[in-house]
Amino acid sequence: MLLDNYNSIANSTTTPPVDFSRIFANSYPLHVDIGSGKGLVLLQQPFGPHLNYIGIERRLKYIKLASDRIERRGLNNVRLLHGDAEQLLSPLFAAQSVASFSLLFPDPWHKRRHQKRRLVTARFVELLATKLKPNGVVMVATDHADYFAVITNCFNNQEAFVFAPQQKPPLQLSHFEIKYSKQKRPIYRTAYRRVH
Ligand SMILES: C[S@@+](CC[C@H](N)C(=O)[O-])C[C@H]1O[C@@H](n2cnc3c(N)ncnc32)[C@H](O)[C@@H]1O
Repeated sequence: MLLDNYNSIANSTTTPPVDFSRIFANSYPLHVDIGSGKGLVLLQQPFGPHLNYIGIERRLKYIKLASDRIERRGLNNVRLLHGDAEQLLSPLFAAQSVASFSLLFPDPWHKRRHQKRRLVTARFVELLATKLKPNGVVMVATDHADYFAVITNCFNNQEAFVFAPQQKPPLQLSHFEIKYSKQKRPIYRTAYRRVH
């Protein structure tokens, strides 16, 4: 489902992949926040104002909350997609169409028997590579050391990516980052650039 803040744009009128420049009525680069939750990244726009921001979130409750906030701020460079990130990214985004992704505090699924539900896998990282423009970047943060090791392993084993250490000091980008920083939890952060 593609949401234009409050209003659903019927998929029936849009043949995938979506022409986001038509939806935003400009050709700014796309930043996609995966698992956008309550939408702070989309509201704060820490990656710059001259970008189009898309949040993908599978919980409708958070989509509605973020949508209300975006509407109240009158932000017209933000859209929300409701559903599973992998299922939506595959058809809706053209190859090499995304300038950057943020993947902030993906659910770690602590119990071993639940870990198969984790979003970040080798297959998902390969999908990100196909959707990124050359030199496009994926920024990752998590408080979970084991999942961080799994995630970095997936990126390190995907030849399209090179490690791209972040130049800027950490920003309090998201709701979970603020929450975990207050709790003084360690935060593991990395970034990767698509090289070819
Ligand atoms: C721990 S929260 C982090 C939210 C936000 N990124 C932050 O840092 O505050 C993880 C979010 O990812 C969403 N999520 C988990 N799996 C997802 C998936 N497969 N597709 C889209 N969203 C997903 C969850 O519903 C939840 O809102």
